[in-house]
Amino acid sequence: MFGDRRTILITAGPTREAIDPVRYITNRSSGKMGYALASEAAKLGYHVILISGPTLLDIPDSVDFIPVETALEMYDAVNHHIGKADIAIFAAAVADYRPAVIPEHKIKKSAERLTIEFIRNPDILGSARKTFGFMGVLVGFAAETEHLEDNAHHKLTSKGCDFVVANDVSRKDIGFDTHKNEVILVFPETTKFPPMDSKYELALVILEHAVKLASVRNTN
Ligand code: PMT
Repeated sequence: MFGDRRTILITAGPTREAIDPVRYITNRSSGKMGYALASEAAKLGYHVILISGPTLLDIPDSVDFIPVETALEMYDAVNHHIGKADIAIFAAAVADYRPAVIPEHKIKKSAERLTIEFIRNPDILGSARKTFGFMGVLVGFAAETEHLEDNAHHKLTSKGCDFVVANDVSRKDIGFDTHKNEVILVFPETTKFPPMDSKYELALVILEHAVKLASVRNTN
Protein backbone atom coordinates (compact mmCIF):
# COMPACT_ATOMS: atom_id res chain seq x y z
CA MET A 1 0.00 0.00 0.00
CA PHE A 2 1.14 3.56 -0.75
CA GLY A 3 -0.82 5.91 1.48
CA ASP A 4 -4.34 4.62 0.97
CA ARG A 5 -3.63 3.69 -2.66
CA ARG A 6 -3.00 0.13 -3.82
CA THR A 7 0.50 -0.48 -5.22
CA ILE A 8 1.09 -2.49 -8.40
CA LEU A 9 4.59 -3.69 -9.26
CA ILE A 10 5.17 -4.43 -12.96
CA THR A 11 8.22 -5.89 -14.69
CA ALA A 12 8.64 -5.06 -18.38
CA GLY A 13 10.94 -5.26 -21.36
CA PRO A 14 13.87 -7.54 -22.07
CA THR A 15 16.99 -8.09 -20.02
CA ARG A 16 20.41 -7.64 -21.55
CA GLU A 17 23.23 -9.99 -20.61
CA ALA A 18 26.80 -8.93 -21.33
CA ILE A 19 29.10 -11.20 -23.32
CA ASP A 20 32.06 -8.82 -23.06
CA PRO A 21 32.34 -5.03 -22.51
CA VAL A 22 30.86 -4.26 -25.96
CA ARG A 23 28.47 -7.14 -26.73
CA TYR A 24 25.35 -8.60 -25.16
CA ILE A 25 22.50 -11.04 -25.79
CA THR A 26 18.89 -10.04 -25.38
CA ASN A 27 15.45 -10.87 -26.85
CA ARG A 28 12.72 -9.27 -28.94
CA SER A 29 10.63 -7.74 -26.13
CA SER A 30 9.94 -4.06 -26.82
CA GLY A 31 8.38 -3.40 -23.40
CA LYS A 32 5.05 -2.34 -24.97
CA MET A 33 2.91 -4.84 -23.04
CA GLY A 34 4.45 -4.01 -19.65
CA TYR A 35 4.39 -0.25 -20.29
CA ALA A 36 0.72 -0.44 -21.34
CA LEU A 37 -0.04 -2.14 -18.01
CA ALA A 38 1.93 0.49 -16.09
CA SER A 39 0.34 3.39 -17.97
CA GLU A 40 -3.24 2.14 -17.56
CA ALA A 41 -2.70 1.26 -13.88
CA ALA A 42 -1.34 4.77 -13.18
CA LYS A 43 -4.29 6.36 -15.04
CA LEU A 44 -6.65 4.30 -12.87
CA GLY A 45 -5.02 5.89 -9.82
CA TYR A 46 -2.80 3.06 -8.59
CA HIS A 47 0.71 3.61 -7.29
CA VAL A 48 2.85 1.89 -9.93
CA ILE A 49 6.41 0.62 -9.57
CA LEU A 50 7.70 -0.16 -13.08
CA ILE A 51 10.90 -2.22 -13.15
CA SER A 52 12.09 -2.25 -16.73
CA GLY A 53 14.87 -3.64 -18.85
CA PRO A 54 16.22 -1.44 -21.68
CA THR A 55 13.53 -0.22 -24.11
CA LEU A 56 13.03 2.67 -26.55
CA LEU A 57 9.71 3.67 -24.97
CA ASP A 58 8.84 6.84 -23.06
CA ILE A 59 8.42 6.31 -19.35
CA PRO A 60 4.67 6.38 -18.57
CA ASP A 61 3.47 9.39 -16.53
CA SER A 62 3.16 9.09 -12.76
CA VAL A 63 5.02 5.81 -12.22
CA ASP A 64 8.02 5.05 -10.03
CA PHE A 65 10.46 3.95 -12.70
CA ILE A 66 13.34 1.61 -11.88
CA PRO A 67 15.59 0.90 -14.87
CA VAL A 68 17.64 -2.30 -14.87
CA GLU A 69 19.76 -4.05 -17.44
CA THR A 70 20.37 -7.65 -16.42
CA ALA A 71 18.23 -10.43 -14.94
CA LEU A 72 20.27 -10.24 -11.73
CA GLU A 73 19.56 -6.50 -11.46
CA MET A 74 15.84 -7.13 -12.08
CA TYR A 75 15.88 -9.86 -9.41
CA ASP A 76 17.42 -7.45 -6.86
CA ALA A 77 14.99 -4.64 -7.76
CA VAL A 78 11.94 -6.92 -7.45
CA ASN A 79 13.25 -8.34 -4.17
CA HIS A 80 13.69 -4.80 -2.84
CA HIS A 81 10.28 -3.43 -3.88
CA ILE A 82 7.80 -6.32 -3.94
CA GLY A 83 7.07 -6.04 -0.21
CA LYS A 84 5.24 -2.74 -0.90
CA ALA A 85 3.00 -4.24 -3.61
CA ASP A 86 -0.57 -5.52 -3.38
CA ILE A 87 -0.40 -6.84 -6.96
CA ALA A 88 2.69 -7.94 -8.94
CA ILE A 89 2.56 -8.48 -12.71
CA PHE A 90 5.57 -10.01 -14.45
CA ALA A 91 5.46 -9.02 -18.14
CA ALA A 92 9.25 -8.87 -18.64
CA ALA A 93 11.04 -11.28 -20.95
CA VAL A 94 13.88 -12.23 -18.63
CA ALA A 95 16.92 -14.05 -20.02
CA ASP A 96 16.93 -17.55 -18.57
CA TYR A 97 20.73 -17.79 -18.98
CA ARG A 98 23.72 -15.43 -18.88
CA PRO A 99 27.35 -15.91 -19.89
CA ALA A 100 29.20 -17.67 -17.07
CA VAL A 101 32.17 -15.32 -17.33
CA ILE A 102 32.30 -11.74 -18.65
CA PRO A 103 35.86 -10.99 -19.74
CA GLU A 104 37.31 -7.63 -18.76
CA HIS A 105 38.33 -6.89 -22.36
CA LYS A 106 36.63 -7.24 -25.75
CA ILE A 107 36.81 -10.79 -27.13
CA LYS A 108 39.23 -10.76 -30.09
CA LYS A 109 38.63 -12.51 -33.41
CA SER A 110 41.03 -15.46 -33.39
CA ALA A 111 39.71 -19.03 -33.70
CA GLU A 112 37.09 -19.97 -36.36
CA ARG A 113 34.62 -20.99 -33.66
CA LEU A 114 33.74 -19.39 -30.36
CA THR A 115 31.98 -21.23 -27.56
CA ILE A 116 30.38 -19.31 -24.72
CA GLU A 117 29.26 -21.10 -21.58
CA PHE A 118 25.94 -19.94 -20.10
CA ILE A 119 24.63 -20.36 -16.57
CA ARG A 120 21.05 -20.13 -15.28
CA ASN A 121 19.64 -16.82 -14.15
CA PRO A 122 17.36 -16.81 -11.11
CA ASP A 123 13.65 -17.27 -11.83
CA ILE A 124 12.27 -13.96 -10.53
CA LEU A 125 8.57 -14.87 -10.84
CA GLY A 126 9.31 -18.28 -9.30
CA SER A 127 11.00 -16.53 -6.35
CA ALA A 128 8.06 -14.22 -5.60
CA ARG A 129 6.24 -16.60 -3.27
CA LYS A 130 9.04 -18.97 -2.25
CA THR A 131 11.92 -16.54 -1.61
CA PHE A 132 10.44 -13.03 -1.35
CA GLY A 133 7.40 -14.23 0.63
CA PHE A 134 4.96 -12.23 -1.55
CA MET A 135 1.36 -12.76 -0.40
CA GLY A 136 -0.45 -10.40 -2.81
CA VAL A 137 -2.03 -11.11 -6.19
CA LEU A 138 0.62 -12.63 -8.46
CA VAL A 139 0.21 -12.49 -12.25
CA GLY A 140 2.73 -14.22 -14.52
CA PHE A 141 3.08 -14.10 -18.27
CA ALA A 142 3.93 -17.04 -20.51
CA ALA A 143 5.52 -16.65 -23.93
CA GLU A 144 4.95 -19.95 -25.73
CA THR A 145 5.38 -21.31 -29.23
CA GLU A 146 3.31 -24.49 -28.62
CA HIS A 147 0.84 -26.04 -26.13
CA LEU A 148 -0.11 -22.55 -24.94
CA GLU A 149 -2.75 -23.43 -22.35
CA ASP A 150 -0.96 -26.52 -20.95
CA ASN A 151 2.38 -24.73 -20.58
CA ALA A 152 0.70 -21.70 -18.99
CA HIS A 153 -1.11 -23.99 -16.56
CA HIS A 154 2.18 -25.56 -15.55
CA LYS A 155 3.65 -22.07 -14.88
CA LEU A 156 0.52 -21.12 -12.93
CA THR A 157 0.94 -23.96 -10.44
CA SER A 158 4.75 -24.22 -10.31
CA LYS A 159 5.21 -20.47 -9.67
CA GLY A 160 2.20 -19.95 -7.37
CA CYS A 161 0.45 -17.43 -9.65
CA ASP A 162 -3.17 -16.35 -9.31
CA PHE A 163 -3.39 -16.32 -13.08
CA VAL A 164 -1.09 -16.44 -16.09
CA VAL A 165 -1.39 -14.31 -19.24
CA ALA A 166 -0.23 -16.51 -22.10
CA ASN A 167 0.65 -15.40 -25.62
CA ASP A 168 1.71 -17.31 -28.69
CA VAL A 169 5.04 -15.74 -29.64
CA SER A 170 5.37 -17.86 -32.79
CA ARG A 171 2.88 -15.51 -34.45
CA LYS A 172 4.20 -12.37 -36.18
CA ASP A 173 1.03 -10.31 -35.63
CA ILE A 174 0.97 -10.56 -31.81
CA GLY A 175 3.39 -10.95 -28.91
CA PHE A 176 6.81 -9.37 -29.26
CA ASP A 177 7.02 -5.75 -30.48
CA THR A 178 3.47 -5.47 -31.82
CA HIS A 179 0.74 -2.96 -30.93
CA LYS A 180 -1.92 -5.65 -30.60
CA ASN A 181 -1.85 -8.86 -28.65
CA GLU A 182 -4.04 -11.93 -28.31
CA VAL A 183 -3.74 -13.62 -24.96
CA ILE A 184 -5.46 -16.28 -22.91
CA LEU A 185 -5.90 -15.82 -19.17
CA VAL A 186 -5.27 -19.10 -17.38
CA PHE A 187 -6.77 -19.35 -13.87
CA PRO A 188 -6.64 -22.45 -11.63
CA GLU A 189 -10.22 -23.48 -12.51
CA THR A 190 -10.92 -21.72 -15.79
CA THR A 191 -9.39 -20.14 -18.89
CA LYS A 192 -10.64 -16.90 -20.49
CA PHE A 193 -10.19 -15.98 -24.14
CA PRO A 194 -10.43 -12.19 -24.64
CA PRO A 195 -10.46 -11.13 -28.31
CA MET A 196 -7.34 -9.73 -29.98
CA ASP A 197 -7.00 -6.07 -29.03
CA SER A 198 -4.49 -3.29 -28.44
CA LYS A 199 -2.02 -3.92 -25.63
CA TYR A 200 -3.66 -0.97 -23.80
CA GLU A 201 -7.14 -2.54 -23.93
CA LEU A 202 -5.78 -5.94 -22.87
CA ALA A 203 -3.88 -4.24 -20.04
CA LEU A 204 -7.25 -3.00 -18.73
CA VAL A 205 -8.70 -6.53 -18.89
CA ILE A 206 -5.68 -7.96 -17.02
CA LEU A 207 -5.80 -5.18 -14.39
CA GLU A 208 -9.54 -5.66 -13.88
CA HIS A 209 -9.03 -9.35 -13.05
CA ALA A 210 -6.05 -8.67 -10.78
CA VAL A 211 -7.84 -5.88 -8.88
CA LYS A 212 -10.97 -8.03 -8.44
CA LEU A 213 -8.85 -10.82 -6.90
CA ALA A 214 -7.11 -8.32 -4.61
CA SER A 215 -10.47 -6.94 -3.41
CA VAL A 216 -11.85 -10.42 -2.67
CA ARG A 217 -8.68 -11.27 -0.73
CA ASN A 218 -8.89 -8.06 1.33
CA THR A 219 -12.49 -8.67 2.37
CA ASN A 220 -11.82 -12.28 3.49
O1 PMT B 1 7.46 -6.40 -24.66
P1 PMT B 1 6.55 -6.66 -25.85
O2 PMT B 1 7.29 -6.47 -27.17
O3 PMT B 1 5.28 -5.87 -25.77
O4 PMT B 1 6.15 -8.20 -25.83
C1 PMT B 1 5.32 -8.68 -24.82
C2 PMT B 1 5.79 -10.04 -24.31
C3 PMT B 1 5.62 -11.06 -25.44
C4 PMT B 1 7.27 -9.97 -23.87
C5 PMT B 1 4.91 -10.37 -23.07
O5 PMT B 1 3.59 -10.39 -23.45
C6 PMT B 1 5.31 -11.73 -22.46
O6 PMT B 1 4.87 -12.79 -22.88
N1 PMT B 1 6.18 -11.68 -21.40
C7 PMT B 1 6.77 -12.86 -20.79
C8 PMT B 1 7.94 -13.30 -21.61
C9 PMT B 1 8.65 -14.49 -21.00
O7 PMT B 1 9.81 -14.39 -20.68
O8 PMT B 1 7.92 -15.55 -20.79
P2 PMT B 1 8.44 -16.94 -20.15
O9 PMT B 1 7.39 -17.93 -20.48
O10 PMT B 1 9.85 -17.23 -20.57
O11 PMT B 1 8.47 -16.62 -18.59
C10 PMT B 1 7.38 -16.94 -17.73
C11 PMT B 1 7.22 -15.89 -16.65
O12 PMT B 1 8.35 -15.92 -15.78
C12 PMT B 1 7.10 -14.44 -17.15
O13 PMT B 1 6.19 -13.78 -16.30
C13 PMT B 1 8.52 -13.88 -16.96
O14 PMT B 1 8.50 -12.48 -16.68
C14 PMT B 1 8.98 -14.66 -15.71
N2 PMT B 1 10.43 -14.93 -15.63
C15 PMT B 1 11.03 -15.71 -16.56
C16 PMT B 1 12.38 -16.04 -16.42
C17 PMT B 1 13.08 -15.54 -15.30
N3 PMT B 1 14.38 -15.83 -15.13
N4 PMT B 1 12.46 -14.77 -14.39
C18 PMT B 1 11.13 -14.44 -14.54
O15 PMT B 1 10.57 -13.71 -13.71
